[in-house]
Amino acid sequence: MTKDLTKITDLPVSIINQLMIDSFVFKKKHDQGQKIDNLLKGKVVALVFEKPSLRTKICFETATTLLGGIPIFISSGQILSSGNYMKGRESIPDIAKNLERFADLIVARVFDHETIQEIAASTKIPVINALCDKYHPTQALADMMTIMWHKKRTDDFKVAYIGDGNNVATSLMHICASLMVNFTIASPKGYEIPKSELLIAMKNLKNSSLDFVEEPEKAVCNADVVYTDTFVSMGQEDEYNERIKAFRGYQVNRQLMKKAKNDALFLHCLPAHRGEEVTDEVIDSKQSVVFDQAECKLHTAKALLKYFLA
Ligand code: NVA
Repeated sequence: MTKDLTKITDLPVSIINQLMIDSFVFKKKHDQGQKIDNLLKGKVVALVFEKPSLRTKICFETATTLLGGIPIFISSGQILSSGNYMKGRESIPDIAKNLERFADLIVARVFDHETIQEIAASTKIPVINALCDKYHPTQALADMMTIMWHKKRTDDFKVAYIGDGNNVATSLMHICASLMVNFTIASPKGYEIPKSELLIAMKNLKNSSLDFVEEPEKAVCNADVVYTDTFVSMGQEDEYNERIKAFRGYQVNRQLMKKAKNDALFLHCLPAHRGEEVTDEVIDSKQSVVFDQAECKLHTAKALLKYFLA
C-alpha cells in the first residue's frame, strides 16, 4: 500500500493498472446513469489549493460527494501562502497535523514540490498531489485513461509531447515508462524535462522507448497521440514574453497533426491558450479528445479516493 501520491513513480505498475480498471468501471456506471456505492461514507477529504483549478478541484470535490464522502475546500492563501510557509500563518507540519484531526485525506495543489513532500511527511493520512511545479500525477492518470478509452490498446503505441518539459510532461513521461508506452518529446533548448527525471524514467523503462528531439515534426512522426500544454505554467507569468519567443515553432497546428498517424488523438490537460500552443482548428477537430480527457479526471479521482480510503 502506497501512503501518498506525490508523483507517478510512487505508484507500482500493479496499482496504476488497478486504478485504470476502477476508473473504467466508474466511467461505465456514469455513462449508464448507474449510482455508485457509498464507498467513502463519512470520510472527509480536505482540498488545499494554492493555485487556481477548474478540473482537478471540481473532480475531487464531485468524486468525494458521489462516493458518499464530505469534501472541504480550503482556498488559496487561507492557510498556505505562495509556496512559502514562512509567509503563511503557520508551518506546513502544523497545518498537516491539524488537518489530519478533521480529515481522512488531503488533496493539495501547491507551488513547490517540497511543500507536498512536507505535508506528506507530517501526517499519517494520505496526501494526493493535485499539481506542483514538478509533477501533475492525477493528470497523467486521466491522460492514460483517455488514451486507453479511445484506443483500446497501448501496445506498440507512441505518445508525442510537443512543448514545455513541465509538470504535465514529466508525469506523462513517467506513466508512459511505467505502462511501456513509447514516449517522444520535442522541447526547445532550455525547456526540456529535467535531467534527473529523465534518468528515473530511463531506469524504469522495460519494453518501450523514450526519445528527446528538438523538432516537433520528428516527434509526431508515426504518433498515435499528440499532446501539448501551455508554454507558460502557473507561477511563470513573469516569463511570458521570453517563453512565447522560445516556443515559436512548437505550436500544434493542422500541418503538424498531419505528420502524425491519420487517426492520432489530440490531448491537452487544459486550460488551453488557443493560438499559442494549439490552434482552434486542432483543439476543435474530430481528433481532439480534450473534454473526454477532462471527464476522465472525474473517474480517475474516484478510483484514487477508492484506493486510498475505501
Ligand atoms: N502546466 C500547467 C498545467 C495546468 C493544469 C501549469 O502548471 O500551470
